[in-house]
Amino acid sequence: MYSADQTRSLQELSQSLLQRLSQKGVTLKDLASIRKALVFHEYRYYILNDPLLTDSEYDTLYKALEKLESENPDSVTADSPTQRVAKSLTKSFPTVRHLVPMLSLENSYNAEDLLDWDRKARELTGLKELEYCVEPKFDGASISLIYENDLLVRGATRGDGVEGDEITTNIRQIRSVPLSAAFSRYGIEQIEIRGEVLMNKENFKKYNQQLAEQQLAPLANPRNAASGSLRIKDPAEVSRRNLEVFLYHISYFTSTGKKSPKTHSDSLEMLWDLGFRSPKKEKKVFRGIHSVVDYCVAFESGRDALPYEIDGMVIKVNDFALQDVLGMTTHHPRWAIAFKFKARQATSRLLKVEFQVGRTGSITPVAKIEPVPIGGVSVASVSLFNEDVVRQKDLRIGDQVLVERAGDVIPYIVKPLSELRTGKEKKIVFPTHCPACGDELVKVPDEAVLRCVNINCPAQVVERIIHFVSKDAMDIRSFGAANVSKFYELGFLPDVPAIYQLPFDKIAKLEGFGEKSIQNLREAIETSKKQPLHRVIFGLGIRYVGETTAKTLAKAVSYLPDFARFSPEELLAMEDVGPKVAGSIQQFFENHDNIHMLEKLEALGINLRNTRSERSGSGNLDGQSFLFTGSLNELKRSEAEAMVEAQGGKILGGVSSKLNYLVVGEEAGSKLEKAKKIPSIKILTEKEFLRFMGQAAGN
Ligand code: IVH
Repeated sequence: MYSADQTRSLQELSQSLLQRLSQKGVTLKDLASIRKALVFHEYRYYILNDPLLTDSEYDTLYKALEKLESENPDSVTADSPTQRVAKSLTKSFPTVRHLVPMLSLENSYNAEDLLDWDRKARELTGLKELEYCVEPKFDGASISLIYENDLLVRGATRGDGVEGDEITTNIRQIRSVPLSAAFSRYGIEQIEIRGEVLMNKENFKKYNQQLAEQQLAPLANPRNAASGSLRIKDPAEVSRRNLEVFLYHISYFTSTGKKSPKTHSDSLEMLWDLGFRSPKKEKKVFRGIHSVVDYCVAFESGRDALPYEIDGMVIKVNDFALQDVLGMTTHHPRWAIAFKFKARQATSRLLKVEFQVGRTGSITPVAKIEPVPIGGVSVASVSLFNEDVVRQKDLRIGDQVLVERAGDVIPYIVKPLSELRTGKEKKIVFPTHCPACGDELVKVPDEAVLRCVNINCPAQVVERIIHFVSKDAMDIRSFGAANVSKFYELGFLPDVPAIYQLPFDKIAKLEGFGEKSIQNLREAIETSKKQPLHRVIFGLGIRYVGETTAKTLAKAVSYLPDFARFSPEELLAMEDVGPKVAGSIQQFFENHDNIHMLEKLEALGINLRNTRSERSGSGNLDGQSFLFTGSLNELKRSEAEAMVEAQGGKILGGVSSKLNYLVVGEEAGSKLEKAKKIPSIKILTEKEFLRFMGQAAGN
């Protein structure tokens, strides 16, 4: 899309615009340059995943454009970067007809199927050998885009293949979809492109964590997350979901020139060249079918390492003229076939449903199924989340069920195979009383869950302690859920503060507790006393207070019990704190038992105060980013990361020009190699990092 020369000059242009913005400002004459620079940087960020500006530099340019446009409304163009944002809610998604029906693909599952398909294609074309283009089969929601005279004019869902929903406003929220593209360079006037909208695995995990913090049922897989997101009527929410797109097929175009692509592979190159995210790097062209199979198998083994989900590969006859010869059936083209990866689904039998009590008293139905291997793991227990989910799916004890486990996502029941029912299946009866303490359960209006409201319910106490010691809270290694339950049953651990008063002499007499393991446990407990305040807050398990909110709260006080004096207005003034969260925080600090628990914890030496950097949120490493690779000797990875965060620094997920420091431990691999190629990244050993942190912390 951009040559090295163009990249250099656009970067220089951006730097000079930024410099002028910090001094005397810019004028209407700069509008086109600012737009050009922003489109370039969006491409670097969203398509190449290799930004050349920091977020704040990008924001500065963006705000300058917004300002110029608001002062000169006539200057706004439809493809201006500011025009992605929609100001109002979408009323409806009108039905639209695709220019060409969106057909599905025939499936194949093994080499034999592929050889068979290749033989038929060779017979129909009369050729000895065919050229194939092979690329991933993205597992998301399919869409079609129409560009006319270089402008994006329509985006639609697949629908029934003939007609879909018009979702242009939502499509514009996806930053990797160009609002304009220079198809005219290829003599193309109108073009319809197909692709797949995805939510990557990391964003999916984060999204589900947010749902869990609000006690909502998580989404089953990134595919459902993507397709659900496309139907949201609030475009701003669509934007927040950080959707991505891959465009992989040109279904129709009108052209005036001869420059338009003649093969599928060239069409992917063209799309890439015009600024689209196409599978240009992932695709490969082969002569004959045999190496195609090897490529598919190799891709399958690397499937889990990809940042997004794929469920197979797609093999396409490369030459458009031959595609025309092969044509299509009513369901699928004869020139393409999907090679499906091993299913991450299996069938099993629903044996019984148990009801687990969570730390906030919520009752979760858990299906016990006949153990079945899925993706290399034996699955025997599957959460059913709440009564609504059970009713919607019409699950019954004894049902044959379809179970799915996508990557590292928790397994779930897709549906019962109701056609296999014998009539002996039984309804799932929900309890009226708590299975742990026997108290009557409550159904709170507007909530899907049943709840045990006895805060002394033993199951809740155990779950609260498990949460307090967990990795993301106080991170007391070598404690673990099993030890919590055991110590609770033995009366050693009646509540959270008792963690710090464990009778180690008695524990030493228990089976399985050697000197070494007791020593480890003691040390881990001792170390946890110094954990930063946000971990203590998260560990308390206040309803609706997840890790992010805990960090916000930690910044707002210097001493945790001070929250008891906060007014609802003060709570609501904090970032990310809405009425539900504020109400829950207030309730927690109004409860004397909780205040008493905090007093006990403090008396036992647990830190309830804030460090300077946590409070101000602007430590000495503000704006600096770090990444750790290889194994560290003196620090745990999590400790090193926490040190950076405590000083206001950020931890990045990968090496890019956005990264400031790469800290290398032993046996560092590809990240180090990549970082060496980017001169702006400083590479530190663990020792250098520690010295550096000493300086950063002002020691
Ligand atoms: S080509 C006319 N290529 O898989 C053929 N489809 O199960 C057009 N899909 O409906 C489709 N990745 O939504 C094609 N690289 C890829 C794909 C892909 C995912 C989806 C697409 C299609 C479905 C068929």
